[in-house]
Amino acid sequence: MNPVEFIMEKRDKKTHSENDMQSFFSAYIKDEIPDYQIAAWLMAAYLNGLNTEEKVCLTKAVINSGDRLDLSHINKPKVDKHSTGGVGDKTSIVLLPLLASLDVCVPMMSGRGLGHTGGTLDKLESIPGMTVQLSKEKYIKIMEEHGAVFMAQTSAITPLDKKLYSLRDVTATVESIPLITASIIGKKMTEDLDSLILDVKFGNGAFMKNLEAARELAQSLVDTSESLGVKTIALITDMNEPLGEYVGNSVEIIESIDMLQGKKVESRFYDVTLRLAEQMYRAAVPELKVDWRSVLESKLSDGSAYEKLLKIINAQGVKTEVTENLRESLPIAKKRIKIKAGQSGYISGIDSYRLGRLMVELKAGRMKITDKIDFGIGLRILKHIGDEVKANEILAELIVHSDLETDTFARCFTIRDQPVAKTKIVREAVTRLDNEY
Ligand code: URA
Repeated sequence: MNPVEFIMEKRDKKTHSENDMQSFFSAYIKDEIPDYQIAAWLMAAYLNGLNTEEKVCLTKAVINSGDRLDLSHINKPKVDKHSTGGVGDKTSIVLLPLLASLDVCVPMMSGRGLGHTGGTLDKLESIPGMTVQLSKEKYIKIMEEHGAVFMAQTSAITPLDKKLYSLRDVTATVESIPLITASIIGKKMTEDLDSLILDVKFGNGAFMKNLEAARELAQSLVDTSESLGVKTIALITDMNEPLGEYVGNSVEIIESIDMLQGKKVESRFYDVTLRLAEQMYRAAVPELKVDWRSVLESKLSDGSAYEKLLKIINAQGVKTEVTENLRESLPIAKKRIKIKAGQSGYISGIDSYRLGRLMVELKAGRMKITDKIDFGIGLRILKHIGDEVKANEILAELIVHSDLETDTFARCFTIRDQPVAKTKIVREAVTRLDNEY
């Protein structure tokens, strides 16, 4: 296989053979093909697309480029959830212990925040002592003992995706449905899963800006994952406003603790988390004839999901003194700065992308992978889309260390004179094309 001819093939909208694709990517992993040729191929693939066979072939190349978990000795259904990313999205922190409390194994590999979105691993690391980077053997041991573990991607797992993703990031080739599919499904397929639930987000705070694009991505993710033998369902969910009441790191852990302890939390966050949990539970034990939602809710109200979280984070390095006073142990900035409405009316829009970026500038996230996060910084959102406000009423509150100007934050909220309908968070479910939902 000649790399130049391979690139020409895609440039000229032709189809690659499986053999050529395997040779091209295995040569790249061995550093026998330079980044500039891969970058040229990525742009050709971005512009001209990949057909289903090519997409599956690239996904397999990602899977086979590194290590995989073998959980066959754990005699429980294995289910994971993956979200395409958003602002204030903390559902994983609730879902993992909630499902583990129902004897479902959740080998969850999460990411760090980059760009305007937060990352589950960063949020977890705001808990003093929490370690997400452990050896494969240790992850498996925690899963054997507690049924679930919060994992970080290591360079031994899917190194091809690591190399391709950083090139895509700097060559304007991220927003490609086949490339995103191979990247996400390639990673998930190393977890030895029986089922996968996907949360594909659309809207101003998401990767896919509209429902149509999210639908297309969801179908591609589901079909590819199913063709590799993993039962998969995607929920398409609205990310046109941040999820929940809080955005940040420690503050999102506190909001997750509230939900795990059965306390009242913001309705969209509660709803989407339970809908995802229900899909995970149904996928794990489809033969059970129960009211799924009430079983899940009972694990929140009787404290068992929260107990499970404490056991798992304890096994991941958090000391008992901390788990006994988890809420109080989290770093939270002391100052509260109010963001007020400039006029009366109804909230018609919240620019989640801009809010996410502003939070990154305050160091709640990182601009580059080496930046240090300030876990104590946060944002509390008091008004959501559809809510009525009076001029000067508080829209949101910044949780920071010192005074700062709030105009740019206030401009993220759009207020209209006419009443605005509340948005539905879960829009639709996507299954394999030949399945019925
Ligand atoms: N998340 C990933 O892991 N890969 C992509 O390509 C996009 C989002």
